[in-house]
Amino acid sequence: MVTLTVLNGTVQHVFQVPAGSNLRRVLLDHDLSPYATLTQRANCGGRGLCATCGVWLGDAPEPTHWHDKLANQFGYPRLSCQITLEQDLTVRLIPEKWIWGGRRK
Ligand code: FES
Repeated sequence: MVTLTVLNGTVQHVFQVPAGSNLRRVLLDHDLSPYATLTQRANCGGRGLCATCGVWLGDAPEPTHWHDKLANQFGYPRLSCQITLEQDLTVRLIPEKWIWGGRRK
């Protein structure tokens, strides 16, 4: 099991989840959507194509997906659908995003 901490505005959620879980799936299963209102339904379903499932990560694992590598390189939110939980992780949702979320300042 790994500990997943999710920061949603000023509210913190802490979960114990099986190692190997997909971050996007865990967030959705706990009603903590990584999507903006506009992309709740209009997304690629976790296939790594739409880039709308971005979240900010604490000690982030190395990206393996090409788009996630670019997001990491250029300071954009990481794709939650491409994150496998292998270690404890802190995630911050981005409630202010319209579609993709902005670049880290
Ligand atoms: S859900 Fe489309 S890229 Fe993650």
